Amino acid sequence: MATITQTALDRAEFPIKSSNVKFHDLPTPEEPNIPLPPPSSRPTDILEVDKGTPDNHVPRDPRLIRLTGVHPFNVEPPLTALYKEGFLTSPELFYVRNHGPVPQVLDEDIPTWELSIEGLVEHPIVLSFRDILQKYDQITAPITLVCAGNRRKEQNTVRKSKGFSWGPAGLSTALFTGPMMADIIRSAKPLRRAKYVCMEGADKLPNGFYGTSVKLNWAMDYNRGIMLAHKMNGEPLRPDHGRPLRAVVPGQIGGRSVKWLTKLIITDAPSDNWYHINDNRVLPTMVSPEMSAQDKKWWTDDRYAIYDLNVNSVAAYPEHEEVLDLTTAGKTYTAKGYAYAGGGRRITRVEISLDKGKSWRLADIEYAEDKYREWEGDLFGGKVDMWQRETCFCWSFWSLDIPVSDLESSDALLVRAVDEALATQPRDMYWSVLGMMNNPWFRVTITKEGTALKFEHPTHPARSGGWMEKAKKAGGDLLNGNWGERHEGEQPLEPEPVKEINMKKEGVNRQIDLQELKENSSNEKPWFVVNGEVYDGTGFLEGHPGGAISITSSAGLDVTEDFHAIHSETAKLMMPDYHIGTLDKASLEALNNSATVVSDEPRPHFLQSRAWSKMTLIEKNNVSWDTRIFVFKLEHEKQTLGLPIGQHLMIKVQDPENKKEAIIRSYTPISERNLEGRMELLVKIYFPTSAVPGGKMTMALDMLSLGSQIDCKGPTGRFEYLGNGRVLISGKERNLRSFKMICGGTGITPVFQVLRAIMQDPQDPTTCVVLDGNRLEEDILCRSELEAYSLADKKKCTVVHTLSKASDSWEGRRGRISEDLIKEFAAPEDASMVLLCGPEALEKSAKKILLDQGWAESDLHFF
Ligand code: MTE
Repeated sequence: MATITQTALDRAEFPIKSSNVKFHDLPTPEEPNIPLPPPSSRPTDILEVDKGTPDNHVPRDPRLIRLTGVHPFNVEPPLTALYKEGFLTSPELFYVRNHGPVPQVLDEDIPTWELSIEGLVEHPIVLSFRDILQKYDQITAPITLVCAGNRRKEQNTVRKSKGFSWGPAGLSTALFTGPMMADIIRSAKPLRRAKYVCMEGADKLPNGFYGTSVKLNWAMDYNRGIMLAHKMNGEPLRPDHGRPLRAVVPGQIGGRSVKWLTKLIITDAPSDNWYHINDNRVLPTMVSPEMSAQDKKWWTDDRYAIYDLNVNSVAAYPEHEEVLDLTTAGKTYTAKGYAYAGGGRRITRVEISLDKGKSWRLADIEYAEDKYREWEGDLFGGKVDMWQRETCFCWSFWSLDIPVSDLESSDALLVRAVDEALATQPRDMYWSVLGMMNNPWFRVTITKEGTALKFEHPTHPARSGGWMEKAKKAGGDLLNGNWGERHEGEQPLEPEPVKEINMKKEGVNRQIDLQELKENSSNEKPWFVVNGEVYDGTGFLEGHPGGAISITSSAGLDVTEDFHAIHSETAKLMMPDYHIGTLDKASLEALNNSATVVSDEPRPHFLQSRAWSKMTLIEKNNVSWDTRIFVFKLEHEKQTLGLPIGQHLMIKVQDPENKKEAIIRSYTPISERNLEGRMELLVKIYFPTSAVPGGKMTMALDMLSLGSQIDCKGPTGRFEYLGNGRVLISGKERNLRSFKMICGGTGITPVFQVLRAIMQDPQDPTTCVVLDGNRLEEDILCRSELEAYSLADKKKCTVVHTLSKASDSWEGRRGRISEDLIKEFAAPEDASMVLLCGPEALEKSAKKILLDQGWAESDLHFF
């Protein structure tokens, strides 16, 4: 029997120091030919993007393609890089699927890491990491992990599913080392009625710890290869992959291989963990996202849960957007790629078609995994002993030499694999709500461009492009059995017109010229242009949620781009009421050519209501993992922003996803009103989760590098605080004695401007109550400033924080902003107003309570 040098970890020297571990203590040259890990270099730097997140302790490889923004970390390697690594993937390129933050596990904590085996067992036990290494036989086996979402972007291109877009590289292979799960469970002696093993990880997520289950008899069957792993390719697990201990369930979707494993719970029913129920399912194709949201039964029917992977294959070559120069190409081209099947089944054939599936060619298959069956010995401290086990748990590589002339006369190369149960890939996609297990024939289109052939994959994980998007844009039905292209002899289909909302009033056909437009572009009569049509905003000056200024600042201008970037469908549906005519063609051209005259004179105030001005990002300070203060430099050192108290400014940035589009949102800075030369903006970044896509604007802001510029315009808003209790609401003045301020999260920002103005002016007698609702204590923003104000003058300023998810040590109020809280602190008063700003749900419920308690609607102002 061959022995391969053991690492420090195998010899169980504790505490384990990452630096002690020699990577790739490889077989000596006389050892047989088994594929070994590719050269690996462990990343040591924390990437800039990770610094502001809870994963600020995890070094990562920048080549990985982030699929859900910065955090949580969900990434795949570029397909070509993955394929080039060969059979085994280096840990730094291995795909990662994290539902939330990576638990931070220190070296010194590893020996005492605990795994409990509990539930329906005779002897519940708690094993330490040390026990797991020292008391159980260790094995090493090559295993391919595949995320059930692999290739999901294709599903999302057909119709948005409830999952984020994976390309075709949501899989990787490594040598895993550790004990068999069966041996561990056996020591606790499961009871006869036990049927399932529930696993739980240490990552705390919004819906509890991550967890799932598999059947107990699978775990107890050595042929199924279910193990616990503490090493990957001979080195201790890296943080993203479950350091220090994970489950590895070969042949099944990656979601069952629980990382940061802390519990094995033996039960008589499948796991009731939120993630087991709401994830990793293929619901019937006719179940829409709405149906699945309305009826829980879809999520609890175990027939729709997925365990074994389905058969799948992908072409790595030709690469996406590869160009084959026919003048220099050889006679043949070697197409290559990967294939895998589930449940331990072998891939028995991979077939290629160049004629839409009428005829097929048989590709060669390389089963690198079989090399391990021919070898027995110790590898990285675990025994390789696979000769008897027939199950296949790894990907295989296929290749086929194709005459270039055949590629030249084809429009697409199609790949499909077949497994030993003769299960194969379908021609057409099976779309489902979660977009999982996508495995239709992999299609690479071939287009002749001059003397070259251009190849395109269905999608690209990170950017736009791919033949699916093109076919869809051309009006093709991607599920028509012909990949969205017309069948031979079929009449051309008119591309489906994009559904536009009609913003014109029926019967209006007045032609307006530039002169008439200019004559009606005053604050009292603000005409403006959208899509070449003229609108009279006079009737909406009072009603516009952004205040009259939002309309007057557009007077006489073509505001098409800004209008579309800001307004919802509801706003668009209101437009016919204000439509008065069409600007003639020559006038429209003249309007757009008449560049806004920009004066070189330095302006005392930065903001201009009718033109965008640029400010530069100079600092990004983290307040918490998801909240930042962005500091921008104005045009010159003496310039102030020019924002009246309680008003807002519009910020415009380029959409990083679609560079042609702008994102515009309204914000209130937290900097002092008279601060010179800079502006400070407090922003909470809404990162995407598997359920929601994340905040477009906040993520775009987060991606800005220092030195980038943003466009600002303003001020906007119907409310202005003039001081000494005087406010302007839509231009009408009111005198007040008090404010009740109700806010949540970053809704504090406009409220804070008004509060600060009052507190900084000793002559201002106005009193304020601030009811501030948040989830956790660490979510409270501007806390020290608020406390300082209430300490300075308790009569003038009362601040009440309430937390909906308070920890045990929180001594303040608990729960949401409730009827009782409002009754106690914000009951109706004469000469008083309520200022509200927060999430929609908070504003809605507070409004209802306030009206019920006797406030008049005109006394409520929503920022
Ligand atoms: N285990 C925990 N504790 N938390 C997780 O978010 N993700 C699962 C699984 N195990 C997950 C987990 C999913 S969906 C997949 S596909 C695999 O881990 C990914 O493993 P990897 O990140 O090591 O590639």
